[in-house]
Amino acid sequence: PHTANSAVAAAATATTVITDIAALVTNDPSLGDGSPLGLIRDAAVAIEGDRVVWIGASSKAPATDNRVDAAGRAVIPGFVDSHSHLVFAGDRTAEFHARMSGRRYEAGGIRTTVAATRAAPDAELEATLTRHLDEALRQGTTTFETKSGYGLTVEDEERALRLAARHTDEVTYLGAHVVPPDFADDPAGYVDLVTGPMLDACAPHARWIDVFCEKGAFDGDQARAILTAGKARGLHPRIHANQLSYGPGVQLAVELDAASADHCTHLTQQDVDALASGDTVATLLPGAEFSTRAEWPDARRLLDAGVTVALSTDCNPGSSYTSSMPFCIALAVRDMGMTPDEAVWAATAGGAAALRRTDVGRLTVGARADLALLDAPSPVHLAYRPGVPLVAAVWRAGRRVTG
Ligand code: NIG
Ligand code: FE
Repeated sequence: PHTANSAVAAAATATTVITDIAALVTNDPSLGDGSPLGLIRDAAVAIEGDRVVWIGASSKAPATDNRVDAAGRAVIPGFVDSHSHLVFAGDRTAEFHARMSGRRYEAGGIRTTVAATRAAPDAELEATLTRHLDEALRQGTTTFETKSGYGLTVEDEERALRLAARHTDEVTYLGAHVVPPDFADDPAGYVDLVTGPMLDACAPHARWIDVFCEKGAFDGDQARAILTAGKARGLHPRIHANQLSYGPGVQLAVELDAASADHCTHLTQQDVDALASGDTVATLLPGAEFSTRAEWPDARRLLDAGVTVALSTDCNPGSSYTSSMPFCIALAVRDMGMTPDEAVWAATAGGAAALRRTDVGRLTVGARADLALLDAPSPVHLAYRPGVPLVAAVWRAGRRVTG
């Protein structure tokens, strides 16, 4: 389906070529079988520097000194995890245990992590962040977004974003996670802080602004004010919307052209219609429903309405302590009405759409060379073999980082 780039032949020694790929997911429907996954059988990929420079039949692969034999296994784009909360300290094992003994999940647990995070030195926070990022990378995640939201003071939010920005470009300011105990009697004062001095301190480190729009967190008017203030400072909105109950979050996301509305567990028909009418991606986070024993978001309903769906981990110590995109794929297929192909697309190209990125989440000439080699002949195995570590090797920006 592709012709060789002449630069490949000229610089053969610097080029990595992965051959004998039984199934290559490109996410380009003009390639291979013409499906949304753009699946090419018996394929090869050439990587030069940080980019994909050639894709085609394995029999036509360019010569190189650096050949990797996929030996009949599958290759997919690295996962794009577009929603995580990885700047935190402590853990909430006791809360999880209580929940699995019948207690309900409540947003208030966030305050436990806020106290631990405020008390932790920078080095501890960064070590925890790095450990979870490495854990995700080994499972095939090559692009990740992460948020503040466990500091909730000017200094602690600024610190979280500064640390996160050392590790990813996709940094989200979530000063509006919950109203902290110090402002329990003055939620309006906290919104003023979030849209004033805290925004001033945080905006230089972030690309995105997020709000937890939920009963017990921030209502629709507060969320609109916070996101609008962020927009005025060059941050683009995304929203924690309709997670625990019906509410205004999803329609507000579409109104403000948010890149994504995240969770989308409780949706009215108007919510679905709004998503279908705009460019806001619905990011579904099945790890949260798994770990809070909540009802599943209805991915099938969204897909049938024409909504773009992403899958992400929501990795955080409270509601979803998993960094595994393959686990989320398996849940989405088993319990949310997605086909295996739809779930793999949502975890790669869908995540890229939720971050408004076109350089990742696909394997096409010119894309960033982010790949996961699976110990399986087909990407369907990610759902078919749940819980099995199928990611055999990972390349990020052209560099083999694991395997
Ligand atoms: O996305 N919903 C709000 N925030 C997180 C939960 C954070 C926590 O419980 O610590 C979420 O699920
Ligand atoms: Fe979240």
